[in-house]
Amino acid sequence: MNFKEIIQETYQKVKNIDDNGQLASYIPELANVNSDNFGIHISTIDQINFGQGNCYDKFSIQSISKVLSLCLAYRILGEKIWDRIGVEPSGTAFNSLVQLEVDNGIPRNPFINAGAIVISDILLSNLKNPKEDFLAFVRNISNNSEINYSRKIAESEKSIGFRNVALCNFIKSFGNIDNEPSKVLDFYFDLCSLEMNCKELSELFLFLANNGNTIKNPNSILTKSQSKRVNALLQTCGFYDESGEFAFKVGLPGKSGVGGGIIAIHPNQYVIAVWSPKLNKKGNSYKGVKFLEEFTTKTQLSIF
Ligand code: DON
Repeated sequence: MNFKEIIQETYQKVKNIDDNGQLASYIPELANVNSDNFGIHISTIDQINFGQGNCYDKFSIQSISKVLSLCLAYRILGEKIWDRIGVEPSGTAFNSLVQLEVDNGIPRNPFINAGAIVISDILLSNLKNPKEDFLAFVRNISNNSEINYSRKIAESEKSIGFRNVALCNFIKSFGNIDNEPSKVLDFYFDLCSLEMNCKELSELFLFLANNGNTIKNPNSILTKSQSKRVNALLQTCGFYDESGEFAFKVGLPGKSGVGGGIIAIHPNQYVIAVWSPKLNKKGNSYKGVKFLEEFTTKTQLSIF
């Protein structure tokens, strides 16, 4: 497969389409990003690496970090984690409150904000130095010490984070948050503020294409079964109320963030990371989704 040629061709095509998306300006700092940025990077199991466009520029990965926090919490709690979080697609927006009342404070899945806030609470209870330990976990997976949080982004989100404050307090009223809500939220905002570029993302997430094991420094991050389950959740819940459409158009497990990043995983083959900051109405990168749709169509490499 000539990934290089297909990526270059698809990049040019998608770069030139009209972008109907909008920057995620509800987090003030994210509105300062140049909306013309467009980067792609692929990393394959057999060690092909190729990038195009702004693939070495760091950006705010936002909800993509929910995959990493889930993996760490899953390592710690094992299957008991599912006592506190469901595995069903929500069919609602990423920051929705509505289902929590009927579901007694158990978030539908770990990728909506409610679920990621419960995961943050689990990590806070189980890590000695949560912020440092989580960062060490992430850096260790890809052997990359260049990965860091952004104070500026975390503070910016905290200044307007009323919806997440409501979610956390509401969940606590059902008894599904153990720690002080302000501490859980501070940690959650830090997790969302991680910055990476497309190259770092595609390298980092290769373990999910490799049955839970890293490739360069053989290291088991998840068991084979856990890796399968995380991919299943990415397929069904990774794009909120656009998860069905993403499966339909792209056919890969993946995760988006409001910074405009998307990672998509083809188990046993590759990870591809895309970044274009303008978002469609569901909060997913407009050009990112378009690129991946074209890419899996041209390569005929999707899981279906
Ligand atoms: O909590 C928030 O609203 C953001 N920190 C993360 C949301 C997000 O990335 C949703 N993704 N598409």
